[in-house]
Amino acid sequence: MSGKALWSGRFEGGMDEGTLRFTSSLDVDGRMAFYDIMGSLAHVRMLKARKIIPEEDADAITGGLRKLAASLKGGTFEMDYSLEDIHTNIEVKLTELIGPAGGKLHTGRSRNDQVATDFKMYLRDAALNTVDAVDRLIASLQDVAKDHRETVLPGFTHMQHAQPITLAQHMLAHAFRLGRDADRFMDAVERMNKCPLGSAALAGTTYPIDRKMTADLLGFKDPTENSMDTVGSRDYVTELAFDASMVAISLSSLCEELVLWNSQEFGFVTMDDRYSTGSSIMPQKKNPDICELTRGKTGSVIGALMTMLVTTKSLPLAYNRDLQEDKKPVMDSLETVRDCANIMAKVVATMKINDSNMLEATRKGFINATDLADYLVTKGVPFREAHGIVGEAVRYCEANHLVLDDLTLEQFKGYSPLIEEDVFNAMSVKTCVERRDSYGGTSPASTDVQLALSLQDLFDRETAVRQKDMLFQNCWDVLLNQ
Ligand code: ARG
Repeated sequence: MSGKALWSGRFEGGMDEGTLRFTSSLDVDGRMAFYDIMGSLAHVRMLKARKIIPEEDADAITGGLRKLAASLKGGTFEMDYSLEDIHTNIEVKLTELIGPAGGKLHTGRSRNDQVATDFKMYLRDAALNTVDAVDRLIASLQDVAKDHRETVLPGFTHMQHAQPITLAQHMLAHAFRLGRDADRFMDAVERMNKCPLGSAALAGTTYPIDRKMTADLLGFKDPTENSMDTVGSRDYVTELAFDASMVAISLSSLCEELVLWNSQEFGFVTMDDRYSTGSSIMPQKKNPDICELTRGKTGSVIGALMTMLVTTKSLPLAYNRDLQEDKKPVMDSLETVRDCANIMAKVVATMKINDSNMLEATRKGFINATDLADYLVTKGVPFREAHGIVGEAVRYCEANHLVLDDLTLEQFKGYSPLIEEDVFNAMSVKTCVERRDSYGGTSPASTDVQLALSLQDLFDRETAVRQKDMLFQNCWDVLLNQ
């Protein structure tokens, strides 16, 4: 199969098969077929409105493109791999359908602005889908938080027992972090909200085009400001690759914890059978593979970011073919984090919380030592001194295989005569947690505030995503039917 090019006038012979295979991007940009048709429908509408091509040709092109959109939707659209990319495929198919008038579609544009427009439209949808998935996971975390306002477990620093916390506090920590990750996508979608179409090859065009019109038709806020910047820059791709990496990092941290919590050593959670896998040799095993795979996929997602950074480094303005390499890694990375967040939403929603094991674990590691020191402070002891007194008590307990709660009042008085019977209540993990009622703290009262904020944040973002989806749907409806 030798390449047949649409623009073969300048060439004497056909393209070598190897050249076609090497330069073809159809495997990847075929995924943008729908957006390519939408871009062309907007372009031809504008060409007609500005009388750049005759009305009847414009109408024939519109009719042909709509047929192609229908065949794409119906699954009957067949890619021709002798053509190097999706843009060429659509143009050739159009011309087959409607005759030479199809050749007028490419008036006043180039594949350089075309590909940038297609990719932006593809990416903003992919970004919003990823936000949806992340939001689903956030909702699962919020549900666990709602049900576990008073479930106490050890909080860790340096992976050592630090202070008791509630499960609500822990789940909401992940929810807020992921919320920022989702917001980052929303910010990026806003920043890339300018339409490349009409920048043409690099310098604009001599035709009296209306870029504001095509921008509106395709759901962009404005046209891009500079044609060379437009066809030569891919910072929005890199930015989304970074945003995806941040989601992957957040997921990896959640997954790491769940793998630990699901272990025999912790026993804090039990993964649901539907989201666990067995071992081919060890009959007793039930593995948290989904968490491990999600953690593992962080590598390829960060890889896509590195690919973008390195591929675009030192590229001279404006378009260079290097830029064709921008699609696959980032398309894949967005899909990966979306899949990971979607399945993790289910893992979190279905995992069994073993609250008695969590509570039992708080008996280890002198987790209430800070509270004993705080207790002494309430009795008038300077904190530094209290710190020393409790340190001695901890040392004694450790040597005798005791926990602080095991000491008698007599023994406590040996450390400080100010200690009274109320010390036992002050040191109970329930009290420890309830008393941390500072803003953002772990007390049930504080996490109630947090949960309300997190729910509002989720609601606002879901509303913003829905509005954007509706705007785009409306654009497609106009282009396809009106
Ligand atoms: N397949 C190309 C890409 O993805 C389309 C643009 C081709 N432009 C060109 N001047 N060869 O970048």
